[in-house]
Amino acid sequence: MTGPAAGAVPSPNIWHHTATYELENLAADPDGRLWSTLQSITSWQGRDVLDLGCGSGFHLPRFAETARSVVGVEPHPDLVALARRRTRRLGNVSVQQGVAQAIPLPDASVDVVHVRWAYFFGPGGEPGLAELDRVVRRGGTALVIDNDATRSTFGRWFQQGYPGIDAAAVERFWSLHGWARSSVDMGWRFSSRDDLEAVVRIEFAREVADAVLAEHQGLEVDYAVNVWSKRF
Ligand SMILES: C[S@@+](CC[C@H](N)C(=O)[O-])C[C@H]1O[C@@H](n2cnc3c(N)ncnc32)[C@H](O)[C@@H]1O
Repeated sequence: MTGPAAGAVPSPNIWHHTATYELENLAADPDGRLWSTLQSITSWQGRDVLDLGCGSGFHLPRFAETARSVVGVEPHPDLVALARRRTRRLGNVSVQQGVAQAIPLPDASVDVVHVRWAYFFGPGGEPGLAELDRVVRRGGTALVIDNDATRSTFGRWFQQGYPGIDAAAVERFWSLHGWARSSVDMGWRFSSRDDLEAVVRIEFAREVADAVLAEHQGLEVDYAVNVWSKRF
C-alpha cells in the first residue's frame, strides 16, 4: 500500500481510529446549527461542490442531496477508498486522492468548497489558499470549519490539549487573507458514555483525556466552532 500523498498533515484521529472518528462525526452538530450556518452563508443547490480533506466522506452524501456535483479530495488512500465506498451509489459524487496544496481539479471548476477540521489550513496554509483562488469560480464561496479555542467546554479542553495553537494567530491569519468569521455553538451529543470517552481519547493525549473525562459528566459537550468563509 502506498502512504498518504506528499504534503498531507498527519491526522492520527481519523487515520488510526477511523471507526471511532465516525462516532465523532455522528455526535457533532446534533441540532443542525452548523449546517444552518453553512447554508446561511451560501447555497450549494445545483452547484459544484468540493469537500477538501474529506476523510472517509462522511459529509459527501449531504452535499450530494442538492448539489449538481460533489468532489471529495483526500490524501490518505485508505480513506479515499472508504469515501468511494460510502458514495458508490450516488451518481453525482467522485473522490480523488490529493492535497490542498495541489488540488487535482481544473481552474474555475467549483462553486462551493467545504473544509472541515482541516489542520492543513491556518498559519502556513497559504499554498492551499492559492489553490482555492485557482479552482473556485467567480461568485463561489469557501467554508472552513475549525475549533474555537477561546470559548466553550471543548474550547477549554482544546487549549489544554494543544497549548501550542495560538487562537489569536489563527484569527489574524484568516482576517489578513480576507475571510470572515461566524461563531457557532455546534455541540456534541453521544448516545453512550463509552462513545464519548472513546472519542475524547482519540482527540487528546492520555493525561488530558483522563482529566477532562473525570471533570465532565453526561453525554453532551458544549462545543464552539468557527466557520471561516470567503467569497471569490
Ligand atoms: C480531522 S480529519 C477531517 C475529515 C473530514 N473533513 C471530516 O469532517 O470527517 C482531517 C483530514 O484532512 C486530511 N488532510 C491532511 N492533510 C491534508 C492536506 N494537506 N490536504 C488535504 N487534506 C488533508 C486528512 O487525511 C484527514 O482525512
